[in-house]
Amino acid sequence: MVDTLAISVTPLSSALGAEISGLDLREDLDQSTIGQITDALHEHIVVVFRDQDLSEEQQLRFTSRFGEVGTRKRSTGLHSDGRFMLVTNITVDGEPLGSYGDGEMWFHSDGAYDEVPYRFSFLYGMELPSSGGNTRFANLYRAYDALPQALKEKLAGRKVLQMGGSRRREKGDPNADLSKIPHAWHPLFTTHPATGKKSLYFSRMHSVRIEGFDLEESEAIIEELADLSERPEFIYEHVWRPGDLVVWDNRCTNHARTPFPDEENRLMRRCTVMGEKPTE
Ligand code: OGA
Ligand code: MN
Repeated sequence: MVDTLAISVTPLSSALGAEISGLDLREDLDQSTIGQITDALHEHIVVVFRDQDLSEEQQLRFTSRFGEVGTRKRSTGLHSDGRFMLVTNITVDGEPLGSYGDGEMWFHSDGAYDEVPYRFSFLYGMELPSSGGNTRFANLYRAYDALPQALKEKLAGRKVLQMGGSRRREKGDPNADLSKIPHAWHPLFTTHPATGKKSLYFSRMHSVRIEGFDLEESEAIIEELADLSERPEFIYEHVWRPGDLVVWDNRCTNHARTPFPDEENRLMRRCTVMGEKPTE
């Protein structure tokens, strides 16, 4: 066991994000250090650890210090251990090695279409393309705060249909047959259980229908919320280096991926911890 370490937390942008330095995540960290990392996550929403060298087992052990490790219900790719997801465009004999293939991904929050979404995601960068493939994070507290008062009042107490499926950069069909698609109705405005702050819980990828409005009005609100939640001033864009571990809080941020060259490999390894049912 390593004694409490003096970690330093350096903000990465005015929107959100901080780099934590002074830690080797292969070590068995004490509870006070885990507490400091959790505090930094609550304050900054996204934390970045650079120059790490993590085996699967070490990534899993670090992840498990923050809660119950999430397992993938719909594991894709050749990697069969559901506690990990490889996020990669690499194929082996024509079969995807992992999930999310190539190219751009729209803003989303991990597991929003589950009754109990993931709390934190832990994404480890292993092989990166020469350009692009950045991950963009949007501060959803700020999005909530920026809602025009009339819209805030109109939407207070409403639920939103969060729909999964394997869309990466395509709108979900609000009229789709939901019996075959993972989905959940969650409050559109949520209260973060740890910080007590209000957040918008909405994304361009997953949120397809707002309760209590006809389809046309729901679509118009969705367009407005998508644009508002992606304002540049709410966003930090992470440019990856191999050895980065980036941890984010899915309850108050969305993330998206910028395009990258198809012919270059990108390989990341993700773990998650389970959260709780979102509440208003
Ligand atoms: C994820 C994800 C985006 C990226 O791992 O959940 O959305 O940039 N990744 O790979
Ligand atoms: Mn994701």
